[in-house]
Amino acid sequence: MSIRRLHTEQPDSFKFTPANLKWAKDQIKKFPKGRQASAVIPLLWRAQEQESWLSKPAIEAVGTMLDMPFIRVLEVASFYFMFQLAPVGTVAHVQVCGTLSCMICGAEDLIGICKEVIADQPHALSEDGQFSWEEVECLGACTNAPMVQIGKDFYEDLTEESFREILAAFARGEVPTPGPQNGRYASEPLSGLSSLTEFNTGNYETNVSVTRALDYGDTVKRIQGNEVPILVAGKKPAKVKPASKQVK
Ligand code: FES
Repeated sequence: MSIRRLHTEQPDSFKFTPANLKWAKDQIKKFPKGRQASAVIPLLWRAQEQESWLSKPAIEAVGTMLDMPFIRVLEVASFYFMFQLAPVGTVAHVQVCGTLSCMICGAEDLIGICKEVIADQPHALSEDGQFSWEEVECLGACTNAPMVQIGKDFYEDLTEESFREILAAFARGEVPTPGPQNGRYASEPLSGLSSLTEFNTGNYETNVSVTRALDYGDTVKRIQGNEVPILVAGKKPAKVKPASKQVK
């Protein structure tokens, strides 16, 4: 477990984009007067979705909006591992599940690939600044082990080959289709259905979770960020900005 503290290098300021500011204000309105602090997690999350990580100015901006002491906001940001307190890869931050099922099924091999392809240490940026990785605890997809979370999506039933190809696809500016990578629809037995054999997937080629991910298309896209890659699952990005431009 790493020590959770603010990064040594911080940007000068943080500002929600107009669209995100409106969204944040709408979130605050959901709570009764005097209980605005209840919106702290969604606002921190949106700040991270915009910038890719949580800087000190972003934490302070959220504290100001919610009339909270900055230390209280920092307590939340530093407690939950979903918040990144240091810059992450500008294209993708790879979270490798290292808990039991995934470890038995090959998580160590995936971590080895991260060390080889991205950076030797977790939370370090790749040379081009586009990728970073970390080991995380169980992400709840144990029946599809080993798996990783990239952006908002799960890539499951991975092999060394399929994981390498996924990283290569991201590096090419593509967003590979998330979900099981071995042909499984969801988490049915590898040998095929043994019950509920008349299960019908309807018109869906992918399971609901993957279908939703493809519909939303915000896998690793920054939400209302300015100088960021616009990546949509299944499509090539219109433009990918250099990594160095995204952390100010
Ligand atoms: S052990 Fe990896 S998702 Fe549960």
